[in-house]
Amino acid sequence: MIETPAVPPVETPAPTNVVAADDESIARAAELLRDGGVVAFPTETVYGLGADALNETALARIFRIKERPLDHPVIVHLAGAGALAEWARDVSDTARALAEAFWPGPLTLILQRAPEVPDAVTGGQDTVGLRVPEHPVAQALLEAFGRVCPEHRPVGLAAPSANKFGRVSPTTAAHVRADLGDAVDLVLDGGAAEVGIESTIVDVSGGEPAILRPGAISAEAIERVLGAPLQSPDAHAPRVPGARATHYAPRAKLRLVRRVELLEALASHKGHRIGVLALEVTVPRLAAGLQRVVPVIAARYAHELYANLRALDALNVGQILIEAPPRSPAWAAINDRLARATRSGEQGLDDAA
Ligand code: TXA
Ligand code: MG
Repeated sequence: MIETPAVPPVETPAPTNVVAADDESIARAAELLRDGGVVAFPTETVYGLGADALNETALARIFRIKERPLDHPVIVHLAGAGALAEWARDVSDTARALAEAFWPGPLTLILQRAPEVPDAVTGGQDTVGLRVPEHPVAQALLEAFGRVCPEHRPVGLAAPSANKFGRVSPTTAAHVRADLGDAVDLVLDGGAAEVGIESTIVDVSGGEPAILRPGAISAEAIERVLGAPLQSPDAHAPRVPGARATHYAPRAKLRLVRRVELLEALASHKGHRIGVLALEVTVPRLAAGLQRVVPVIAARYAHELYANLRALDALNVGQILIEAPPRSPAWAAINDRLARATRSGEQGLDDAA
């Protein structure tokens, strides 16, 4: 992204509870989690707001801090695929093959829950979402948490994205701080999340596998492992709270437009301040100072997407125009998030997980 100087950074208050992630802060975080605390930590996708997945009081705090409805299930993060059978039952060969191929990494598997998984994690459903994150800080935290936990119990960290309900997911510790302030016991700062959008969610809880949320792991990559085409989510998916159409939106009204419309709007905006997220190939310099220019490389676009939306939103413009990216499979997850964000911009912002 070429950043023009007039785009201000997102404002962040003095970060009293934000610490650089190192052995000492990770050990402290693990003890806080053991004692029912709530800790935000980096993953390779976005930052998560973590709590002991077996501690109902700590789980309740997550929902309160996020202002998230109680029936929205949260993903349980595990140190390794070895813990699968402790959190899920009827783990199929398909589920194991996907875990083997993509864990640790940006893939969440939906499976039949094990009996000890609290309702607060599953939103009262029979299934549970499980993921082994790849980020070294997330891995170290899960290992440290396992070490300080009492023996003979499954170890997992329930962690939704560390944003207020209705905001885009945080990809830096500063985003977490800006959204959640002092409500979190500790924020481990591990730098900007590499992937930048949330994990791919695949339902392998029974029946044909289906993608519930596209992400960095593409449908094609999953189909290669399965050796068969995936169901389309619409044909199969249960309506999951938090996976609704309106999602991931900033406060400003957001419009997804084609390049010609963008250029027209910029030529005729007559003094109205508008934010623009344009593709690098377009580079419309007409609205100098109010634009973020992004590369036409899906992975880089995703990496920067939420930071760009936050920065544009901080301009307090009435409208943000987003140049529609390509429609090819590599852009599926990005187009999914943009579609949700733009729909949400018209209907209100109270529906993101
Ligand atoms: O990349 C990610 O997945 C990040 C990082 C922190 O791991 N987490 C994340 O969590 O995006 P959250 O809570 O913001 O989104 C989780 C999504 C929600 O849409 C939720 O409905 C879905 O996962 N989910 C969780 N458990 C589920 C279940 N049992 N069945 C269906 N969907 C589930
Ligand atoms: Mg979320």
